[in-house]
Amino acid sequence: MSDAKPRGRFLTLEGIDGAGKSTHLSFIRDWLAHHDVQAVFTREPGGTPLGEKIRELLLSPDTRASLDAETLLAFAARQQHIADVIEPALASGQWLVSDRFTDSTYAFQGGGRGVPFERIRALEEWVQRGLQPDLTLLFDLPLEVAAERMSGSRVLDRFEQEASDFHQRVREAYLKRAEAEPHRFAVLDSSRSIAAIQDDIARHLGKLLETR
Ligand code: TMP
Repeated sequence: MSDAKPRGRFLTLEGIDGAGKSTHLSFIRDWLAHHDVQAVFTREPGGTPLGEKIRELLLSPDTRASLDAETLLAFAARQQHIADVIEPALASGQWLVSDRFTDSTYAFQGGGRGVPFERIRALEEWVQRGLQPDLTLLFDLPLEVAAERMSGSRVLDRFEQEASDFHQRVREAYLKRAEAEPHRFAVLDSSRSIAAIQDDIARHLGKLLETR
């Protein structure tokens, strides 16, 4: 008889800049702990020492990168992240919660910058070999609301500095992906109150837990 643990669940959080993902991460952390689910929390770009260095490059307003270089860097960080963090966690039965994953590349590099989706898909197949999140929470809200939430004294990163039509294309690309894969995506109207959004999150986490 095998004593191998069942694989963990792979959960990702997505949305335009300012969608409020980080507010909800601590709720997700508490919810999982309350339900005795062991989980690893990580992020993209990042999640490994190499990935965090790539993150610095990608987000620094000083970086000049071609569209392809930017896309390849995102996937280089992702490959290391999958090998060192994501796969080991899932294989050991833990849940893996990633603040952004490949949908961000489709939305930002594909929708935002105009990198052909087929090119992103080819890299996705190479790097992920079929690995896909079990559930993606897409925090969706109008650009103006997100921009208002981001307005503060903080220095904006390379993506946040983009014009509003860039962010509009990012939002639209996310929504198209969600429409194409309704079984994986949960689109959360994030212009509502935090309590209402968290009720939804809890419902989706509960469903995912039942499939364990
Ligand atoms: P955040 O983690 O603070 O939301 O910021 C990460 C930024 O990096 C965000 O603007 C989206 C961007 N990004 C990409 O452009 N492509 C990617 O593949 C990923 C993971 C993030």
